Amino acid sequence: MSSTFSQLDAAGRLRHLVTLDGLPRTLLEELLARAEGFAAGEARGDTLAGITVANLFAEPSTRTRASFELAALRLGAYVVNLDNTLSSRAKGETLLDTVHTLEALRVGMFIIRDAESGVQERVARAVGNEAAVVSAGESHLSHPTQGLLDALTLKQCKGELGALSIAIVGDVARSRVARSAHRAFTTLGVPDIRIVAPRAMMPEASEFAGCRRFDSLEAGIAGVDAVMMLRIQHERAGGGPVDLPAYHREFGLTAGRLAGAAPRAIVMHPGPINRGVEIDPEVADGPQSVIRRQVANGLAVRMAVLELLAGARRARAP
Ligand code: CP
Repeated sequence: MSSTFSQLDAAGRLRHLVTLDGLPRTLLEELLARAEGFAAGEARGDTLAGITVANLFAEPSTRTRASFELAALRLGAYVVNLDNTLSSRAKGETLLDTVHTLEALRVGMFIIRDAESGVQERVARAVGNEAAVVSAGESHLSHPTQGLLDALTLKQCKGELGALSIAIVGDVARSRVARSAHRAFTTLGVPDIRIVAPRAMMPEASEFAGCRRFDSLEAGIAGVDAVMMLRIQHERAGGGPVDLPAYHREFGLTAGRLAGAAPRAIVMHPGPINRGVEIDPEVADGPQSVIRRQVANGLAVRMAVLELLAGARRARAP
Protein backbone atom coordinates (compact mmCIF):
# COMPACT_ATOMS: atom_id res chain seq x y z
CA MET A 1 0.00 0.00 0.00
CA SER A 2 1.41 3.40 -0.87
CA SER A 3 2.00 5.99 1.85
CA THR A 4 -0.52 8.41 0.32
CA PHE A 5 -3.44 6.00 0.50
CA SER A 6 -5.62 5.63 3.59
CA GLN A 7 -8.11 2.87 4.23
CA LEU A 8 -9.81 5.01 6.85
CA ASP A 9 -12.09 7.98 6.23
CA ALA A 10 -11.62 11.41 7.78
CA ALA A 11 -13.43 10.27 10.93
CA GLY A 12 -11.19 7.20 11.32
CA ARG A 13 -13.86 4.74 10.15
CA LEU A 14 -12.98 1.83 7.87
CA ARG A 15 -13.56 3.00 4.29
CA HIS A 16 -11.80 0.16 2.39
CA LEU A 17 -10.04 -3.03 3.52
CA VAL A 18 -7.00 -3.52 1.30
CA THR A 19 -4.52 -4.72 3.93
CA LEU A 20 -4.21 -5.14 7.68
CA ASP A 21 -1.00 -3.09 7.58
CA GLY A 22 -1.40 0.08 9.59
CA LEU A 23 -4.83 -0.71 11.02
CA PRO A 24 -5.12 -0.03 14.75
CA ARG A 25 -5.51 -2.85 17.25
CA THR A 26 -8.84 -1.42 18.42
CA LEU A 27 -10.27 -1.78 14.91
CA LEU A 28 -9.10 -5.38 14.60
CA GLU A 29 -10.56 -6.15 18.03
CA GLU A 30 -13.86 -4.53 17.04
CA LEU A 31 -14.02 -6.70 13.91
CA LEU A 32 -13.15 -9.86 15.84
CA ALA A 33 -15.75 -9.14 18.52
CA ARG A 34 -18.46 -8.66 15.89
CA ALA A 35 -17.31 -11.78 14.02
CA GLU A 36 -17.44 -13.78 17.25
CA GLY A 37 -21.09 -12.77 17.56
CA PHE A 38 -21.85 -13.91 14.01
CA ALA A 39 -19.91 -17.15 14.57
CA ALA A 40 -22.03 -17.79 17.67
CA GLY A 41 -25.19 -17.47 15.58
CA GLU A 42 -26.12 -13.88 16.32
CA ALA A 43 -28.97 -12.50 14.18
CA ARG A 44 -27.95 -11.78 10.63
CA GLY A 45 -29.75 -8.47 10.18
CA ASP A 46 -30.22 -6.43 7.07
CA THR A 47 -27.35 -3.99 7.39
CA LEU A 48 -26.50 -4.39 3.71
CA ALA A 49 -30.07 -4.04 2.44
CA GLY A 50 -30.09 -2.04 -0.78
CA ILE A 51 -26.34 -2.45 -1.35
CA THR A 52 -25.00 -4.46 -4.28
CA VAL A 53 -21.77 -6.38 -3.74
CA ALA A 54 -19.67 -7.47 -6.73
CA ASN A 55 -17.19 -10.35 -6.49
CA LEU A 56 -14.34 -9.75 -8.94
CA PHE A 57 -12.06 -12.75 -8.69
CA ALA A 58 -9.22 -12.97 -11.19
CA GLU A 59 -7.70 -16.00 -9.42
CA PRO A 60 -9.34 -19.26 -8.37
CA SER A 61 -11.08 -19.38 -5.00
CA THR A 62 -13.49 -21.64 -3.18
CA ARG A 63 -13.52 -20.57 0.47
CA THR A 64 -13.09 -16.81 0.11
CA ARG A 65 -15.44 -16.31 -2.77
CA ALA A 66 -18.23 -18.51 -1.38
CA SER A 67 -17.99 -16.95 2.07
CA PHE A 68 -18.00 -13.36 0.78
CA GLU A 69 -21.10 -14.16 -1.27
CA LEU A 70 -22.85 -15.85 1.67
CA ALA A 71 -21.83 -13.02 4.01
CA ALA A 72 -23.31 -10.40 1.70
CA LEU A 73 -26.52 -12.39 1.18
CA ARG A 74 -26.98 -13.00 4.90
CA LEU A 75 -26.75 -9.27 5.52
CA GLY A 76 -29.39 -8.53 2.92
CA ALA A 77 -27.24 -7.39 -0.04
CA TYR A 78 -27.63 -8.13 -3.71
CA VAL A 79 -24.61 -9.99 -5.12
CA VAL A 80 -23.13 -10.20 -8.61
CA ASN A 81 -20.28 -12.57 -9.42
CA LEU A 82 -18.05 -11.80 -12.37
CA ASP A 83 -16.38 -14.83 -13.81
CA ASN A 84 -12.97 -13.66 -14.90
CA THR A 85 -12.97 -15.74 -18.07
CA LEU A 86 -16.29 -14.23 -19.18
CA SER A 87 -15.78 -10.66 -18.00
CA SER A 88 -15.05 -7.68 -20.21
CA ARG A 89 -11.48 -7.66 -18.94
CA ALA A 90 -10.89 -10.80 -20.98
CA LYS A 91 -12.09 -8.83 -24.02
CA GLY A 92 -9.59 -6.05 -23.45
CA GLU A 93 -11.54 -3.69 -21.19
CA THR A 94 -9.43 -2.30 -18.36
CA LEU A 95 -10.36 -3.29 -14.84
CA LEU A 96 -11.11 0.34 -13.99
CA ASP A 97 -13.55 0.58 -16.92
CA THR A 98 -15.24 -2.58 -15.67
CA VAL A 99 -15.43 -1.09 -12.17
CA HIS A 100 -16.93 2.18 -13.45
CA THR A 101 -19.45 0.16 -15.48
CA LEU A 102 -20.47 -1.67 -12.33
CA GLU A 103 -20.67 1.60 -10.40
CA ALA A 104 -23.12 2.84 -13.04
CA LEU A 105 -25.17 -0.23 -12.13
CA ARG A 106 -25.02 0.99 -8.50
CA VAL A 107 -22.57 -1.61 -7.20
CA GLY A 108 -21.46 -0.30 -3.81
CA MET A 109 -18.86 -2.84 -2.69
CA PHE A 110 -16.12 -4.47 -4.73
CA ILE A 111 -14.55 -7.68 -3.44
CA ILE A 112 -11.37 -8.16 -5.45
CA ARG A 113 -8.83 -10.96 -5.76
CA ASP A 114 -5.98 -10.43 -8.18
CA ALA A 115 -2.53 -11.86 -8.86
CA GLU A 116 -1.19 -8.37 -9.59
CA SER A 117 -0.07 -6.22 -6.68
CA GLY A 118 -1.66 -2.80 -6.25
CA VAL A 119 -4.94 -3.57 -8.02
CA GLN A 120 -7.16 -3.14 -4.96
CA GLU A 121 -5.60 0.23 -4.08
CA ARG A 122 -5.95 1.45 -7.67
CA VAL A 123 -9.64 0.56 -7.67
CA ALA A 124 -10.15 2.10 -4.22
CA ARG A 125 -8.65 5.37 -5.45
CA ALA A 126 -10.85 5.34 -8.54
CA VAL A 127 -14.28 4.59 -7.09
CA GLY A 128 -16.75 7.20 -5.94
CA ASN A 129 -17.30 8.30 -2.39
CA GLU A 130 -19.97 5.71 -1.61
CA ALA A 131 -18.16 2.63 -2.87
CA ALA A 132 -15.86 0.39 -0.82
CA VAL A 133 -13.14 -2.03 -1.90
CA VAL A 134 -12.25 -5.18 0.00
CA SER A 135 -9.24 -7.30 -0.86
CA ALA A 136 -9.92 -11.00 -1.19
CA GLY A 137 -6.23 -11.65 -1.87
CA GLU A 138 -3.55 -9.50 -3.48
CA SER A 139 -0.63 -11.21 -5.16
CA HIS A 140 1.73 -12.67 -2.52
CA LEU A 141 1.24 -9.58 -0.38
CA SER A 142 -2.00 -9.53 1.48
CA HIS A 143 -5.15 -11.47 2.36
CA PRO A 144 -6.66 -9.38 5.16
CA THR A 145 -9.84 -11.32 5.87
CA GLN A 146 -7.78 -14.53 6.05
CA GLY A 147 -5.57 -12.88 8.67
CA LEU A 148 -8.65 -11.88 10.64
CA LEU A 149 -10.23 -15.34 10.47
CA ASP A 150 -6.95 -16.90 11.57
CA ALA A 151 -6.79 -14.53 14.54
CA LEU A 152 -10.42 -15.27 15.41
CA THR A 153 -9.78 -19.03 15.30
CA LEU A 154 -6.73 -18.68 17.49
CA LYS A 155 -8.64 -16.55 19.99
CA GLN A 156 -11.58 -18.97 20.13
CA CYS A 157 -9.30 -21.96 20.66
CA LYS A 158 -6.66 -20.45 22.93
CA GLY A 159 -8.24 -17.43 24.62
CA GLU A 160 -5.90 -14.52 25.19
CA LEU A 161 -3.26 -14.12 22.49
CA GLY A 162 -0.75 -12.36 24.71
CA ALA A 163 1.23 -15.45 25.76
CA LEU A 164 1.06 -17.65 22.66
CA SER A 165 3.69 -19.23 20.41
CA ILE A 166 2.74 -19.74 16.76
CA ALA A 167 4.71 -21.35 13.95
CA ILE A 168 3.92 -20.43 10.34
CA VAL A 169 5.31 -23.26 8.22
CA GLY A 170 6.07 -23.76 4.54
CA ASP A 171 6.20 -21.51 1.50
CA VAL A 172 6.32 -18.31 3.55
CA ALA A 173 8.12 -16.25 0.89
CA ARG A 174 5.23 -16.53 -1.59
CA SER A 175 2.38 -16.50 0.91
CA ARG A 176 -0.07 -13.63 1.34
CA VAL A 177 -1.73 -15.71 4.08
CA ALA A 178 1.50 -15.70 6.09
CA ARG A 179 1.95 -11.94 5.66
CA SER A 180 -1.57 -11.10 6.80
CA ALA A 181 -1.41 -13.61 9.68
CA HIS A 182 1.88 -12.06 10.80
CA ARG A 183 0.33 -8.60 10.66
CA ALA A 184 -2.82 -9.66 12.55
CA PHE A 185 -0.93 -11.61 15.23
CA THR A 186 1.64 -8.85 15.72
CA THR A 187 -1.01 -6.13 16.02
CA LEU A 188 -2.97 -8.26 18.50
CA GLY A 189 0.08 -8.85 20.69
CA VAL A 190 1.18 -12.45 20.01
CA PRO A 191 4.68 -12.48 21.53
CA ASP A 192 6.29 -15.49 19.77
CA ILE A 193 5.74 -15.84 16.02
CA ARG A 194 8.08 -18.23 14.24
CA ILE A 195 8.51 -18.79 10.54
CA VAL A 196 9.63 -22.22 9.50
CA ALA A 197 10.71 -22.84 5.92
CA PRO A 198 13.32 -24.38 3.69
CA ARG A 199 15.90 -21.83 2.59
CA ALA A 200 14.29 -21.42 -0.86
CA MET A 201 10.94 -20.51 0.74
CA MET A 202 12.30 -18.21 3.44
CA PRO A 203 11.28 -14.54 2.96
CA GLU A 204 13.77 -11.67 2.74
CA ALA A 205 15.33 -10.62 6.05
CA SER A 206 13.56 -7.25 5.77
CA GLU A 207 10.15 -8.93 6.11
CA PHE A 208 8.39 -10.59 9.05
CA ALA A 209 9.92 -8.30 11.64
CA GLY A 210 10.14 -9.80 15.10
CA CYS A 211 9.77 -13.42 13.96
CA ARG A 212 12.26 -16.12 14.82
CA ARG A 213 13.34 -18.13 11.78
CA PHE A 214 13.84 -21.90 11.57
CA ASP A 215 14.84 -24.18 8.72
CA SER A 216 13.96 -27.31 10.69
CA LEU A 217 10.31 -28.23 11.26
CA GLU A 218 11.03 -30.11 14.47
CA ALA A 219 12.91 -27.16 16.01
CA GLY A 220 10.42 -24.59 14.68
CA ILE A 221 7.29 -26.17 16.14
CA ALA A 222 8.79 -27.32 19.46
CA GLY A 223 6.35 -26.35 22.22
CA VAL A 224 4.17 -24.05 20.06
CA ASP A 225 0.47 -23.50 20.76
CA ALA A 226 -0.49 -23.36 17.08
CA VAL A 227 1.02 -24.70 13.88
CA MET A 228 -0.12 -22.89 10.75
CA MET A 229 0.72 -24.91 7.65
CA LEU A 230 0.87 -23.28 4.22
CA ARG A 231 0.29 -24.61 0.72
CA ILE A 232 3.19 -24.47 -1.73
CA GLN A 233 2.35 -21.61 -4.12
CA HIS A 234 3.44 -23.33 -7.34
CA GLU A 235 1.40 -20.80 -9.34
CA ARG A 236 3.43 -17.80 -8.14
CA ALA A 237 6.74 -16.67 -9.55
CA GLY A 238 9.95 -17.24 -7.61
CA GLY A 239 11.62 -20.41 -6.39
CA GLY A 240 12.26 -23.40 -8.59
CA PRO A 241 10.35 -26.63 -9.04
CA VAL A 242 9.71 -28.37 -5.73
CA ASP A 243 10.59 -32.03 -5.12
CA LEU A 244 7.33 -32.89 -3.32
CA PRO A 245 8.38 -36.21 -1.72
CA ALA A 246 11.55 -34.53 -0.39
CA TYR A 247 9.50 -31.56 0.84
CA HIS A 248 7.15 -33.90 2.68
CA ARG A 249 10.06 -35.74 4.25
CA GLU A 250 11.50 -32.48 5.63
CA PHE A 251 8.49 -30.22 6.15
CA GLY A 252 5.35 -32.37 6.04
CA LEU A 253 3.35 -32.22 9.27
CA THR A 254 2.97 -35.78 10.50
CA ALA A 255 1.38 -36.97 13.74
CA GLY A 256 4.84 -37.81 15.05
CA ARG A 257 6.16 -34.31 14.41
CA LEU A 258 3.04 -32.65 15.81
CA ALA A 259 3.74 -34.45 19.09
CA GLY A 260 6.67 -32.05 19.52
CA ALA A 261 4.34 -29.04 19.73
CA ALA A 262 2.48 -28.15 22.97
CA PRO A 263 0.12 -30.97 24.07
CA ARG A 264 -3.08 -29.24 22.93
CA ALA A 265 -1.59 -27.33 20.02
CA ILE A 266 -4.00 -26.56 17.22
CA VAL A 267 -3.26 -27.20 13.54
CA MET A 268 -4.34 -24.52 11.08
CA HIS A 269 -4.25 -24.38 7.29
CA PRO A 270 -5.88 -21.77 5.03
CA GLY A 271 -6.79 -24.37 2.40
CA PRO A 272 -6.81 -25.77 -0.13
CA ILE A 273 -4.76 -28.49 1.54
CA ASN A 274 -2.47 -30.86 -0.31
CA ARG A 275 -2.69 -34.10 1.64
CA GLY A 276 0.57 -35.97 1.82
CA VAL A 277 2.57 -32.88 0.81
CA GLU A 278 2.48 -30.22 3.55
CA ILE A 279 0.18 -32.16 5.86
CA ASP A 280 -0.72 -35.80 6.47
CA PRO A 281 -4.40 -36.77 6.26
CA GLU A 282 -4.44 -38.07 9.85
CA VAL A 283 -3.30 -34.61 11.03
CA ALA A 284 -5.60 -32.65 8.71
CA ASP A 285 -8.58 -34.71 9.91
CA GLY A 286 -7.33 -35.28 13.45
CA PRO A 287 -8.56 -33.91 16.77
CA GLN A 288 -6.09 -30.99 16.83
CA SER A 289 -7.09 -29.73 13.38
CA VAL A 290 -9.20 -26.54 13.27
CA ILE A 291 -9.14 -26.24 9.49
CA ARG A 292 -12.91 -26.46 9.07
CA ARG A 293 -13.45 -24.05 11.92
CA GLN A 294 -11.25 -21.58 10.04
CA VAL A 295 -13.54 -21.93 7.04
CA ALA A 296 -16.63 -21.32 9.17
CA ASN A 297 -14.96 -18.31 10.76
CA GLY A 298 -14.29 -16.93 7.29
CA LEU A 299 -18.00 -16.34 6.89
CA ALA A 300 -18.32 -14.63 10.27
CA VAL A 301 -15.31 -12.37 9.67
CA ARG A 302 -16.50 -11.35 6.21
CA MET A 303 -19.94 -10.51 7.61
CA ALA A 304 -18.25 -8.32 10.23
CA VAL A 305 -16.13 -6.53 7.61
CA LEU A 306 -19.04 -5.87 5.25
CA GLU A 307 -21.23 -4.68 8.11
CA LEU A 308 -18.59 -2.27 9.39
CA LEU A 309 -18.04 -0.84 5.91
CA ALA A 310 -21.79 -0.42 5.41
CA GLY A 311 -22.11 1.34 8.77
CA ALA A 312 -19.30 3.74 7.91
CA ARG A 313 -20.91 4.42 4.55
CA ARG A 314 -24.22 5.27 6.22
CA ALA A 315 -22.44 7.54 8.69
CA ARG A 316 -20.78 9.45 5.82
CA ALA A 317 -23.98 9.84 3.83
CA PRO A 318 -25.18 13.45 3.61
N1 CP B 1 -7.79 -19.60 1.99
C1 CP B 1 -8.19 -19.20 0.77
O1 CP B 1 -7.98 -18.06 0.36
O2 CP B 1 -8.87 -20.16 0.07
P1 CP B 1 -9.49 -19.95 -1.39
O3 CP B 1 -8.33 -19.75 -2.35
O4 CP B 1 -10.28 -21.21 -1.68
O5 CP B 1 -10.36 -18.73 -1.36
